[in-house]
Amino acid sequence: MVGLMKRCVAVVMVALLLCLLSGCGMGTSFCASKQDEQRPSADTARKILIVYYSRSGDTRELAQVIQENVGGDLLELQTVEPYPKEDEKIAEQAKPEITQGIKAILKPIIYDVKDYDLIFVGYPIWRGTIAPPVTSFLIQNDFTNKTLIPFCTHGGNGEVNSVSDIQKLLPRALVLNGFAANGSNVENEKQNIINWLSKIQIGE
Ligand SMILES: Cc1cc2nc3c(=O)[nH]c(=O)nc-3n(C[C@H](O)[C@H](O)[C@H](O)COP(=O)(O)O)c2cc1C
Repeated sequence: MVGLMKRCVAVVMVALLLCLLSGCGMGTSFCASKQDEQRPSADTARKILIVYYSRSGDTRELAQVIQENVGGDLLELQTVEPYPKEDEKIAEQAKPEITQGIKAILKPIIYDVKDYDLIFVGYPIWRGTIAPPVTSFLIQNDFTNKTLIPFCTHGGNGEVNSVSDIQKLLPRALVLNGFAANGSNVENEKQNIINWLSKIQIGE
């Protein structure tokens, strides 16, 4: 009788041991829940960069409102050679940059586009299109499979063809519809920016 009990105890112990070693079917769900913990949620996965060029400060103001509402890293592009102060002289310098594709040379940039999923790109309209420093940035980085959201300031002509110009430069990026504001009215556009961000489901 005692021998039988001992054998039963031994069988139960072996069964328990086998169960522990195989994990009793818990390994899969443990792994899965671990993977779930490691997988970032849709929100934390979306890394945002807000990159812009602004000579006289209008586009910078829009960029700051965007960052206040969506977070992300803010990157101001600067040229090695600053543009002259007078608009006519800038136009002179910018003309070959725009019409002949001569690149504006940028100061070194601390952020890497490859670390971001969603990139807001801000620029003033110059001669009907993107200001050259932003064109340089777009040409010099790889936007394959990135989502770009343009925003711009202008002197009354609106975004003109700048959005389609960006899409032409970056055929492998998804370029969404953007936001344009008259540079002389940026202060009054702040609520409109916030409304636009929530309409495209990026803001609060
Ligand atoms: C060289 C140059 C070219 C410009 N070309 C245009 C243009 O074609 N259409 C327009 O509406 N505004 C034009 N503007 C006006 C700017 O787009 C506008 O003032 C903008 O708000 C400036 O933004 P920022 O302060 O960020 O530099 C031009 C300005 C400069 C300096």
